[in-house]
Formats: sequence, C-alpha cells, structure tokens
Amino acid sequence: MTTTNTALVVGANGVIGSSLTDHLSTLANWQVTGLSRKGGVNKERLEYLSVDLLNREESIEKLKHLSNVTHIFYAAFQDRPTWAELVPPNLAMLQHVVDAIEPVAGNLQHISLMQGYKVYGAHLGPFKTPARESDAGHMPPEFNIDQQQFLEERQKGKSWTWSAIRPSVVGGTALGNPMNLAMVIAVYASISKELGLPLRFPGKPGAYNKLLEMTDATLLAKATVWAATDPRCANQAFNITNGDLFRWEELWPKLAAWFSLDTAPPLPMSLQVIMSDKAALWKTIQEKYGLEKHSYASLSSWTFGDAVFGWDYDMFGDSSKSHRFGFHEYIETEQMFYQLFEELRLKKIIP
Ligand SMILES: NC(=O)c1ccc[n+]([C@@H]2O[C@H](COP(=O)([O-])OP(=O)(O)OC[C@H]3O[C@@H](n4cnc5c(N)ncnc54)[C@H](OP(=O)(O)O)[C@@H]3O)[C@@H](O)[C@H]2O)c1
Repeated sequence: MTTTNTALVVGANGVIGSSLTDHLSTLANWQVTGLSRKGGVNKERLEYLSVDLLNREESIEKLKHLSNVTHIFYAAFQDRPTWAELVPPNLAMLQHVVDAIEPVAGNLQHISLMQGYKVYGAHLGPFKTPARESDAGHMPPEFNIDQQQFLEERQKGKSWTWSAIRPSVVGGTALGNPMNLAMVIAVYASISKELGLPLRFPGKPGAYNKLLEMTDATLLAKATVWAATDPRCANQAFNITNGDLFRWEELWPKLAAWFSLDTAPPLPMSLQVIMSDKAALWKTIQEKYGLEKHSYASLSSWTFGDAVFGWDYDMFGDSSKSHRFGFHEYIETEQMFYQLFEELRLKKIIP
C-alpha cells in the first residue's frame, strides 16, 4: 500500500507517545518520525530524532528537513514543581515544533494535542464530574489550556486542523516515565510480595471508595489517530477513556490476587517516602528472578502514585462525545491492568 501520511510523534518515549508510535508504525499507510531528547532505535517505517525542544534554534535546525510531515502528534511533557512553572516550558516546546514544521511542511494537515483532566481543574480538587468537553474553564495557570489557545490562534486561516485529546490516568508499559500508574502498582506489589506482606492500599482514606476511570495507552493511541484523521473531529476536544468506572475498594483486591497477594486494610503512606530505600531490594529481586537490569529510579514514579492514590474525590469524565463522533472502542479496566502486568512480566521487568 502507498504511504500517504507522515506522522511526527513528539514525546515518542513517553507512556503515551511510545504507544502512539507503536500503533502508527503498525498502520500500512503511515511513515513515522518519533521525536524526543533520548531518541530510539529505528525500525521499518519508524525513525527517531533526538531533539531538545526547549532549545528553539536546535529545534528549528533539526526539524527543518521534515517537509513531508502531514500530522503532528504532540505528547511531550516537561515536569516542574508548580502549576505556574509548568506553563513556560510546555508552551515553548509546542511552539518550537509548530514554528519549525509549519513553514516547511506544505501538506501539514493536522496537529493533535495530548491534554488531560487538568483542563477541568482535576488537579486542584473536587471538580465537576462527569467532566465534559463543554465545561466552563477555570482560573489559570494551566499549561494544557495555554497550549490549546496557542493552536486555536495559530490555526486561524490555515488549511490544517487541530484536535485535543483528554485521557484519564493512562495505563501503559513504557519505561523511564514519571506518570505510569501500572508500573507503580506492579513494582509496589512485587516488593510487597518479596517482603511477605499483603498489598495495602497506600492512598488517602477517602480515596479508596471514590469513582475513577483510566485510559489504556493502546486505546488512546487508536483514538488519537482517529481524531486526527476523521474530518468530523477537526478543531474539537475529546475525552478518551476505557469506558468503565471503578473504585479501588473493588479493584485493589483483584489486582492483589493477580500477584497472588492478600490485602489488608488501607494504610495511608507516602510511597515517595516509604519506597525510597528499596533500590537495593529491587536489585536483589532482579537478580533472584533474572529480570532486566532497569534502574529502580527509572521504573516507577512514587510521586505520581501518591498523587493518584491521593484523589479523595471522584475523578471521571464523560467520553460520550467521542462515541457520538464515531470512536467506539472500549476495554475493561480490570483486564487492562492484567494485560499490562502480563506484558511487564514477559518483558522481564517484574517477577
Ligand atoms: N501519563 C498519564 O497518566 C497522563 C494522563 C493524562 C494526561 N497526560 C498528559 O499527556 C502528556 C504526555 O504525558 P506522558 O505521561 O506521556 O509524559 P512522559 O511519559 O513524561 O513523556 C514525555 C515525553 O516528552 C519527551 N520530552 C520531554 N522533554 C523534552 C524535550 N525538552 N525535548 C524533546 N522531548 C522531550 C520525553 O522524552 P525524552 O525524555 O527522551 O526527551 C518523553 O518522550 C502530558 O501533557 C500529560 O500531562 C498524561
């Protein structure tokens, strides 16, 4: 089949970007360039490019040959300690990509922006649920909104369109990423098991029975490509979720059982604090079970785990807009976790 689309996946090593890159490179009519600082190993129809997007000159110089790009999938992320500090680097990186690609890519058709429920104020506290794409905005700073406003302004009078994709917490297996909940649970459970302990929910007391949802990274990749290529989705935002809701009090014991662990009553604790001295133990586990030697620090972000397990308020959106516009895939969240854990085991990341 003739290659008709050329994707630039920005943030190609991320928990979201890596699965987007994987998905696109399975599609017959796509050529893919994956961009990040670290780069990657090229495969058929997939080449990696190492660029530091914080550096404007480097970005323009290293991206100027990408005249074939038809679709930009933006899923890069720079973490910072405060909501205000997140804005400048995350806005600048997007601007640098668009400034570099737009003048050289004459057939640019679409820019897809990966967002999240911060758009709805989910990071600030109990927000209106189910969150809908049409909900009222909230007080800045919030980088997702700055990024979207930049694209909206930049698109005026242009032939390309944009879409904004809003997943819930994403389930994937990419390594070395700060926001990967499946990895947090898998490493925490593996260590609990090695120590002969039950799997205790470590979150806030009120978080155990609140309603949550997740978004599988593969499902998200499919939805992102769908929204970028279906003309009905032009200049629209979409919540993308697995399609079911859960409470930890029901799911947690099932996840424990997958690891052949019992549970015990929740015990609120900071994973960042309590897991910080477990690197040597993880090394022992790796040797004992013949695991790959990924560094403990690169596997799991306990800070992210603390954030998610600290949500003592409902955390869900309404994804019916995506269904009305034509995206109908779903996955049961419990099964998603089992598949991700299985994959981590097959890759010899966990015992
Ligand atoms: N993960 C979740 O559960 C989740 C949920 C909802 C929304 N989101 C949103 O989705 C977006 C992506 O999140 P993610 O979890 O996939 O992030 P991530 O795993 O941290 O990935 C970020 C990507 O950006 C790249 N990157 C960072 N700085 C860069 C730079 N200066 N130049 C070039 N590339 C750079 C990283 O690769 P290198 O390190 O190789 O540069 C990596 O590929 C974020 O806006 C996030 O808020 C995430």
